[in-house]
Amino acid sequence: NTTTYKLNTGASIPAIGFGSFANNGESGYEAILAALKAGYRHIDTAAAYGNEEEVGRAIKDSGIPREELFITTKFWQTQHRDPKGALELSLKKLKLDYIDLFLIHWPYPQIAKSSKEEDLFANSGEEPIFDEEWDITKTWGLVQELITNHPELVKAVGVSNFSIKHLNKLLQAENFQITPAVNQVEINPLLPNSEVLRFCKEKGIVVEAYSPLGSSGRHFPNPFFKNEEINSIAKERGVSVAQLLINWGVKRGYVVLPKSSNPQRIADNLKDIKITDSEFERISGLIKTLGEHRTPTPAWIDFSNY
Ligand code: A2P
Repeated sequence: NTTTYKLNTGASIPAIGFGSFANNGESGYEAILAALKAGYRHIDTAAAYGNEEEVGRAIKDSGIPREELFITTKFWQTQHRDPKGALELSLKKLKLDYIDLFLIHWPYPQIAKSSKEEDLFANSGEEPIFDEEWDITKTWGLVQELITNHPELVKAVGVSNFSIKHLNKLLQAENFQITPAVNQVEINPLLPNSEVLRFCKEKGIVVEAYSPLGSSGRHFPNPFFKNEEINSIAKERGVSVAQLLINWGVKRGYVVLPKSSNPQRIADNLKDIKITDSEFERISGLIKTLGEHRTPTPAWIDFSNY
């Protein structure tokens, strides 16, 4: 699938990106390399995924010219006071001169137990210490400075896991200058996030969907892969359930970031299958029988604030 969108910077972004979360170590490196070989030109990573070195090595070994690639990374809660330091650390691990997109990973500034790297990214399973003296408008101020002063290091900036409330906070702040290029949030047919989509479209913010397949099923049952209705659509069309879910997202007009560690499924997920209006409606209707589905997230995420 070679669909692209335009960011508010003028840059284009491939509609399907490879979600690299949980692809770590040697097998992670192999999966990322398999994605590049299969034709993905857009890789999504994050400092907290702990795999920027693997991503960087796969990029280098793929031999694909840097300018043909769109690379995103994100900085963690404990890095809100120093996005520039975070960017430098990410670039060093990725062994890249610049990244295409740099995102605030979550709108929750936190304090690390120490500045040691393992403590910076350690907190997802622990009780977080929130940085009460800080807030996301200050973070965005530093991000705006970063891209203004260092356009050679970062081509676009944006946010992730921001609600309309969080976005409005940035857009209405006194220091607001640059509209985020992207907001990356969880979206699947059982979590359509239509209000966020509408808001972002109006503001010229490209939305990216993570966990578009309903995620792994390791800690909870995947709602789609065994579902009769979507399997019958897949069977009628001779496509996979994952292809339907991915192209349902592309048809709604945002970036979709499927992840897989299996080379066959990685390649399968990139194939362009234009879904019809009636297939689209059937997939959109799944929520009526299946209800809402969101991947389990750490307790420090306050969705009541969304
Ligand atoms: P695997 O790595 O074994 O392929 P999400 O992108 O929503 O987070 O979902 C990712 C999960 O979906 C992974 O566990 C991945 O497992 C699985 N997956 C990815 N692509 C496919 C596919 N084409 N068919 C079945 N499962 C898939």
